[in-house]
Parts: sequence; structure tokens; C-alpha cells
Amino acid sequence: MTQMSLLPRPNQAQLERNQALSAQIIAKIAQARGFLRFDDFMRAALYTPGLGYYSGPSEVFGAVGDFVTAPQISPLFAQCVAAQWRRWFAQMAADQAQVTEFGAGDGRFAGQILALLGDEVRSYNIIELSGHLQRRQAQTIATLAPQQVNKVRWLNQLPDSLEGIVFGNEVLDAMPVRLFELQFDQQCGISVLERGVGVQNQDSTPLCMATQPANPLFAASVIEKLKCAIGPENSLASHYVSGYKSELGEESTGWVNAIAQRLSHGVLHLIDYGFAAAEYYLPQRSGGTLMCHYRHRSHEDPLQWIGLQDITAHVDFTAVAQAAMQSGLDLLGYTTQARFLMHCGLIEYAAAAMQTQSDIKQTVALNHGLQKLVSEAEMGELFKVIAFGKGASFAAIDSRDRSNRL
Ligand SMILES: C[S@@+](CC[C@H](N)C(=O)[O-])C[C@H]1O[C@@H](n2cnc3c(N)ncnc32)[C@H](O)[C@@H]1O
Repeated sequence: MTQMSLLPRPNQAQLERNQALSAQIIAKIAQARGFLRFDDFMRAALYTPGLGYYSGPSEVFGAVGDFVTAPQISPLFAQCVAAQWRRWFAQMAADQAQVTEFGAGDGRFAGQILALLGDEVRSYNIIELSGHLQRRQAQTIATLAPQQVNKVRWLNQLPDSLEGIVFGNEVLDAMPVRLFELQFDQQCGISVLERGVGVQNQDSTPLCMATQPANPLFAASVIEKLKCAIGPENSLASHYVSGYKSELGEESTGWVNAIAQRLSHGVLHLIDYGFAAAEYYLPQRSGGTLMCHYRHRSHEDPLQWIGLQDITAHVDFTAVAQAAMQSGLDLLGYTTQARFLMHCGLIEYAAAAMQTQSDIKQTVALNHGLQKLVSEAEMGELFKVIAFGKGASFAAIDSRDRSNRL
């Protein structure tokens, strides 16, 4: 049985969108002379207006969608983030107390944080690529924080300058990545291939993964990245096997650079799943971290149900930190989600919430959410929190920081 036959079948309208998007991608492959770089494929699959996974009308979040994120799992997440932001806002002038959130999902985090921080926030900007999600966010915020709606604006592009707190939860993992594969040959030594998407003559599955020799610039970036990960004194051939696959998040580091250059005074605060480079590019992680999510099932084939499934890669936090610091930001800390939330008072907030629960169902839900946020087997260890500051000595995010691992 193929992986595809194990996944639930989309409805007719979804199938039509999938076919329309696949046809556009096939045309792009033809324009690119038979080989579409994976980052270009991923951008088309996720963000083609009206058809891409995040730009189409399908529900992606929650029980009826494909995955859940921390703000949907528990209100304790926003409570803890609000506690950290209060410390940062206390170090800013009142007119700098702005938030710019990227990829605000269903709007729950924005609504919760506005309800918690109220007048402490002067304005709340959202940069959201999907028009459908923008409408959804407006409704959620109006429900959760009706007094604060007039502070919220949706921006269609990056502003020229940023102040206050710039925030993204699970945004970097949704940015397109370039894929590579290593080949070792006794005569020629190491070569780097770029992985992308091509077409094959099969009606049922017209797209296939394809490789071509990496251009010299990309090959050099891959080799430099891997050498840094294993230590420059070690040889790639003695660490990695032929066929080793992974990815480079060039778009996310470019995005961090762009934010860092625009941030004049404030904090860039990012939460996502991933590792420092040494762990990301472990020789044992020989298939990379690319993952797809479709109706709460995870698998590794990005060519299935294009436009209907999420495609994501883990974040290389070393690359993120280097990009931010090279553009003039100070690292305020790097830690796990569990440590960050505890540092912000998670246990106290959870205990207070338990006391207000009137029925057993609510207590069980609160416990379940708490467990998901911090358990090592769930989000507690895999998810990391990183923050950078500019213009002041902003407060750190954890007393037991892991920045030395970056
Ligand atoms: C996994 S969802 C996370 C949503 C939300 N932050 C949450 O925690 O529920 C990823 C979001 O990032 C957005 N995104 C990806 N790249 C972006 C970019 N360059 N600018 C703004 N949003 C972006 C996507 O459109 C999507 O809404």
C-alpha cells in the first residue's frame, strides 16, 4: 500500500484545487527546463494565492485541520509570553510598546495577548500572507479582546522600520528550504546535489523528486555549513554517508536579516521546533527534517496532495542566530520551550487556573495542555525559544540559557 492510499481522501473542491495547483507547478517546471528547486516548489505549494496550503480556504489549524500550535493547545502559552513581554515593555518608552506578529494563524495568540496586556500594548501589527487567515484573525481578536480591536492593523509587507516586539510562533518552519544530497565517490571525492522537483510520464503521479549538480555557490554553502556542524578538523567523508540528505533554510535566514536591519529599538522573539547546527546536521539524521502534515498524520512525501498538506522543515537556530547577530542584534537567549515557559511562571499560572476550574472536563483539558507544552516527549524539548535585542540591555529569556550550544 502506498503512503497516499493511507491518507484520507480530499473532497471534490479540494481535489480540484490540488489539480489546478499541480498544473501550475508542472508549468513552472517546464519553464525551469525540467528542474524546479525545492524552495520554489515549496513556496508554490504553500503560498500560491487562492490555491496554496496557507493561501487557500481549507482549515489548517485545530481538530478538523492538519495540526495544532501552542496558542490553540493552551491559554497558558500566551499568559507566559505576556509575562516576558511585560519585562521587555518595561524597558521601552510607552510609544515603543508595539507588537508586530508574523503569520498569526487563527488569531488566537493575538487575541489572548491583547486581552492580557490591554493598555500596555500601543499597537498590534500582523503580517499575514493569507487573506483568508486575515479575516479569520479579525473575527477571533474581536471575540477575545473586543476592547483592543482598534489597535490591530494588517500590513501587506515588511515595514521599513520596526520598534517594540517582533514575534513569530512556528513561522520559520513554514519558510521554503533548499534541499541537498551528498555523494561520495572514491575518484571524484565529495559532490553536492541539489534536490528539487521534476516531471515523470505517469498520469497518476506526474511529479517526482529530482536531483542535479548543485551550483558552486550552493555547494560551497552546504560544505561550509556541514564543516561548522561537525567541526573544521573533521572530514565530511568520515562523518557523512553517501546519500545523506538535508536542507538549508536560506529564506528564513534572509528573513531574519531583513527584520534585524529594520529593528531600531526592541526585541525579535521567535519560537519554533529545531536545533542548533551541530544537532541539526548530525550524521545520523541522514534524511533531513522535511515533514508533511495532513489531517494530523505526518509523513515525508511533499508531492502528495499538493496545496492541501503542510510542508515544513525544522529550524537551524545556529543559522538564525548568526544572521541576526551579523545584522547587529544582541542575542538575549536560546532555550527550550519548557524552560522558557517555566521561567515565565507557567507553574504558578497553571495552579491559579486549576483553582478556578469548576468541572472535571476543564481540569483534564488544562492538564493535557500543560503536559503538551512542556513534556520532553511533546513540545517541551524540541521547541526552542530564541530572542534578540537592539537598543537596550533587554531582559534574558531564561536563567539556564543554552546559547553556548549555538
Ligand atoms: C504553522 S503556521 C503558525 C501560525 C501561528 N503563528 C500559530 O502559532 O498558530 C505558519 C504561519 O507562518 C506564516 N508565514 C510563513 N512565512 C511568512 C512570512 N514570510 N511572513 C509572514 N507570515 C509567514 C504562514 O502564512 C502561516 O500562517
